[in-house]
Amino acid sequence: MTTNITAEEMAIQREFAQKAAALFAERGSPPKAHVHTFGCQQNVSDGEKIKGMLAEMGCGLSDTPDGADIIIFNTCAVRENAEDRVFGNLGALKHEKRRNPDVIIGVCGCMVQQEHIVERIRRSFPHVDLVFGTNALHTLPELIYGQLTERKRSFRIPGGDGVIAEGLPLRRESALKVSIPIMYGCNNFCTYCIVPYVRGRERSRRMEDIIAEAKSAIAGGAKELLLLGQNVNSYGKELGTDFPSLLREINALDGEFRICYMSSHPKDATRELIDTIAECEKVTRHFHLPVQSGSSRVLGLMNRRYTREDYLGIVNYIRERIPDAALTSDIIVGFPGETREDFEETLSLIREVGFDSLYTFIYSPRKGTKAASMPDPVSAEEKGEWFRELLEVQGEIGRGMYEKYVGQTLRVLCEGEGRTSSELLTGKTPQDVIVDFDGDRSLIGRFVSVKIERAYQWALVGKIIENLFS
Ligand code: 5AD
Ligand code: SF4
Repeated sequence: MTTNITAEEMAIQREFAQKAAALFAERGSPPKAHVHTFGCQQNVSDGEKIKGMLAEMGCGLSDTPDGADIIIFNTCAVRENAEDRVFGNLGALKHEKRRNPDVIIGVCGCMVQQEHIVERIRRSFPHVDLVFGTNALHTLPELIYGQLTERKRSFRIPGGDGVIAEGLPLRRESALKVSIPIMYGCNNFCTYCIVPYVRGRERSRRMEDIIAEAKSAIAGGAKELLLLGQNVNSYGKELGTDFPSLLREINALDGEFRICYMSSHPKDATRELIDTIAECEKVTRHFHLPVQSGSSRVLGLMNRRYTREDYLGIVNYIRERIPDAALTSDIIVGFPGETREDFEETLSLIREVGFDSLYTFIYSPRKGTKAASMPDPVSAEEKGEWFRELLEVQGEIGRGMYEKYVGQTLRVLCEGEGRTSSELLTGKTPQDVIVDFDGDRSLIGRFVSVKIERAYQWALVGKIIENLFS
């Protein structure tokens, strides 16, 4: 069962934060905290809460672990290389601990929701002081206070289906582009995926809490709201509402801003949702719809609950209703039992759809998932070859993809200085395509009207035309 953390519990945590702040204050100079977040936007959003709580405890934030008083690794478990990276970084902290035995080292996030990982930390990383799971995030003040008063290793990984903790302080990464979690957890159990095991069951935030957060972000100058969930398309099921209703409510809020969302599951991408997006002018014209494979047989093994034909049906409907929409996707190569024929179906699907871009992954077995115990006869070398072939095919498809924008005038959110040169500004089109253009820095944070003049493989170059959007 999902637990809503009560206002009383949150107040207790705030008291711990104050007590920790008082202890830190006795030390003289304010403590420095370093938070390193690995993985997806959901984790980045958790990182903002961690930083918010640390700031409440009086900590300044530092970009580096060197010389920090508190170091927290907010981890990702989605693929083995994500975990390897965390262990590598964690190993390197041994020296830091030797140099400064007072440093508090904490590990949280998706990795530590797995028993074998916690065991490994317990045995092989004795310099780690704190391990806390995704359901214990809001208790960070209590855990830090515990470290300040009694230096004992502490492991807090509550089980259960997951919690919702409202009202945590936030230190946002950006005031312009704001992430708002709308739901947590996942019920889909795709057979390759660790997320349902580490993030618990699907649970949605109340619509009024989301709207209140959106309003306050807009009032604070936010121009892009990124609605987050493992599967936003199934938002609100247990509350008697749904994602299209939420989109309509947010779209109706006053102000100049755009609405993005991630991640989507094609099985829940209904016609009603696509119609709603077509009608909501503030919603991004970009569909990131992870297909994973072009073979219905493999999709069945993955427990994706749609076929190749279903997916193509959704794509056709998007193209019919929103002809200027951009489409991107995720692909897994080398799922257990995938044959050369299956893989060729993936190649044919990506040719048929013509995705704007792809996120491609080689299958990584995750302990405890169904796929991890399926026979997997194809060698790593062969999977590597398929992977390279996929990149080549997508490279060909992507070449010239952005030419269609040349000559168009698009509404662009100006996000900052250009990546290639500080002389230029950069922003994103309604399709989430990067565009660089000349202009004054005072335009940062505003919507501008840009005429596209040139297209490269990953970005556009354009010119601001006179009439600015407000
Ligand atoms: N191996 C490889 N890729 C994976 N993904 C999720 N789990 C795995 C895994 N075990 C990919 C999927 C998903 C994206 C976020 O990560 O493509 O959409
Ligand atoms: Fe990684 Fe998934 Fe956790 Fe995000 S939810 S941090 S992708 S395991």
